[in-house]
Amino acid sequence: MYSAEEQRHLYDLSKELLYTPQADLFSEPPAERVEDLTRVLRYHEWRYYVGNDPVISDFEYDQLYKQLQTIEEAFPTLISPDSPTQRVGKDLMENAVQVEHLEPMLSLDNSYDAEDLNDFDESVKKLCKLDPDGDVEYCVEPKYDGGTIVLVYENDRLVRAATRGDGYVGDEITANIRTLRTVPLQAGFSAKGIQKVELRGEALIRKEVFDKINQARQEAGETLFANPRNAATGGLRMKDPKEAAERGLEAFLYQLGYAVDATGNDIHTNFHSHDESIHLLASLGFKTPLAEEKIQDTQKAAPFGGLTTKTCKNITEVIEFCQAWQEYRDEYPYELDGMVVKVNSLELQDRCGSTSHHPRWAIAFKFKARQATTKLRDVEYQVGKTGAVTPVAKLEPVALAGVIVQNVSMHNEEFIRSKDIRIGDQVLVERAGDVIPYIVKSLPELRTGSEVPIDYPKNCPVCHSHLVKPEGEAIWRCENANCEAQVLGRMIFHTSKHAMDIEGLGESTIERFYKLGWLHDISDLYRIDYEKVASLEGFGQKSADNMKAAIEKAKQNPIHRLLHSLSVHHLGQKASKLLAAEVEHVLDLKDWDLEKYQTIKDVGPVLAQNVYNFFHTEANIELLQTMESLGVNLRQTEADKRKDVNVDGPLYGKSILFTGTLSRMTREEAGKMAAEAGASLASGVSKHLSILVVGEKAGSKLKKAQALGTIEIWDEAEFLEKIRE
Ligand code: IVH
Repeated sequence: MYSAEEQRHLYDLSKELLYTPQADLFSEPPAERVEDLTRVLRYHEWRYYVGNDPVISDFEYDQLYKQLQTIEEAFPTLISPDSPTQRVGKDLMENAVQVEHLEPMLSLDNSYDAEDLNDFDESVKKLCKLDPDGDVEYCVEPKYDGGTIVLVYENDRLVRAATRGDGYVGDEITANIRTLRTVPLQAGFSAKGIQKVELRGEALIRKEVFDKINQARQEAGETLFANPRNAATGGLRMKDPKEAAERGLEAFLYQLGYAVDATGNDIHTNFHSHDESIHLLASLGFKTPLAEEKIQDTQKAAPFGGLTTKTCKNITEVIEFCQAWQEYRDEYPYELDGMVVKVNSLELQDRCGSTSHHPRWAIAFKFKARQATTKLRDVEYQVGKTGAVTPVAKLEPVALAGVIVQNVSMHNEEFIRSKDIRIGDQVLVERAGDVIPYIVKSLPELRTGSEVPIDYPKNCPVCHSHLVKPEGEAIWRCENANCEAQVLGRMIFHTSKHAMDIEGLGESTIERFYKLGWLHDISDLYRIDYEKVASLEGFGQKSADNMKAAIEKAKQNPIHRLLHSLSVHHLGQKASKLLAAEVEHVLDLKDWDLEKYQTIKDVGPVLAQNVYNFFHTEANIELLQTMESLGVNLRQTEADKRKDVNVDGPLYGKSILFTGTLSRMTREEAGKMAAEAGASLASGVSKHLSILVVGEKAGSKLKKAQALGTIEIWDEAEFLEKIRE
């Protein structure tokens, strides 16, 4: 339908229009702008509805739509009957039977923040001629991000199901919908005097089911779905209902539209409110927004007890509810792209009326966009502490879910090849929740011909030694252990929280000291000249003292921390703890043979070989000896010894002591809780103690701990908080 060249042009034009500041909207002849906006909106609708493969985010689409609306409002004579604002999408899936909805299904207008919602509230009151200072009751429910469905029940039987289509005519999908267990084939509408009814809802796939589907597709060598919505809308259109059933689709019904009694009278307004009609649907066996979701495996408590629907007494409650769910969306088992706010009273809904595009009594509160398209400017290669080379995409900065994204890891060469990513490409970037942003795909249809395939480097970008790719691994490595990038990477890791945990000696400080020529390997971290530190710009005596205290404390760390801090490839926290429990002194490991490593649970052949190699390299042994001579502990401590201990607990590796009177538990109970969290219980205050928890009337122990200066001092509340982490 659109040639590649046209698509490129329309895409560029969209971006150009998007970057027009609001104030410049009328700077060119409005007729031309209306024409441009109409053309790009049609194109994006086609990509979205027909191809199921949008090239811009919903947010960007909405911005373009709003621009057109603004100009049309100012120049009503420019509104043509086939403007995107006058109809909602036109093209439908080819070859499907099409059916007309009993009532047109409009779209929803969008809002993005509290201000937009307040404006909406104001306009509702104006339309209904209500007191501008009074309250309007709203129903707020999730905006499900799946495929819209429209169901017709006649004489209590499901007789027809359709997609939304253009809002007036949709594709008939009855056979597929009949396979969904969430959709009753019979429902007792007649007992409520309803002979024929049209319901709207959304077909969705649970996130965990979606993950399983994609896993199975990967194993079968099939292409993966980009997200649950694509899998759901595709599922609705399957030719074979059996295949549709295998998608695990579920339907939420959120709107009772058309309803007539046996004589054909419209009885939709027999209900007084939206929530009343939803309660009716729920009582007849439909899954509705009232359904309570069990939120599992999460530390965060669900807002409003996990209820996703609320009848709010005013817009302030609406805003609070919408914002709470925006924060919690990632913990919810289905994809949501926002919340829908509806005037609850049906009488008021009628008074508000509709535009040709959307009802004036409802609005979507859209969550922050998480997908966007942008240009790949360049690729940089980062060398990690073990020599792994990671390609990093340098993107034209783009806003995603509230943050600006410009550097995104592309993992390895295979990632680039399989997605056919080229420099200069437009790429689709996604950021889901707390997950690190990633490139979903490149958009080859938008290429201009000037894109350049990525030439993966053969040599280390830092030390230029030849890169190697060990068999069975996806990653190219620099094998020069003295490569500057690796040396720095190892030092930064050595001091990090999970390793030696040296506060105040982070990445930038290490880089600075390295440039000053103070650091050559990790042993130099224990030779820092604090007088020189104190005289550095931005430091001073206090910072130097703090740094010294942190380093002195780290010297006493249990040896599992030291083992972990050595950046032996694959030697993680857990295996370090297991190894530490087996030796009296770290250097005992140089006498171990390969088999002995493998007798340890969780140590496989690859890790065994890596640790063996490390302890059979003379330079490493010398490094450890030097560190020991500088005061770093290489002997097993109490914390290392205990095997029955919860190695994954938040207090693992720490020794703890309680003093004073605790208010919420006895000291014995507290000790038990601490042990469960992985801590070892100390008998007195010494330099080996990590934490002192103080209750009321704490005496000499507190004073002694304060004098030592290296012990963390917590109160009871802090202790309870930490063990919950
Ligand atoms: S009400 C007349 N409620 O959002 C308004 N729509 O543009 C009818 N959607 O694709 C829609 N969750 O499928 C409504 N709780 C909800 C919704 C919802 C998702 C979708 C709907 C349509 C779009 C509306």
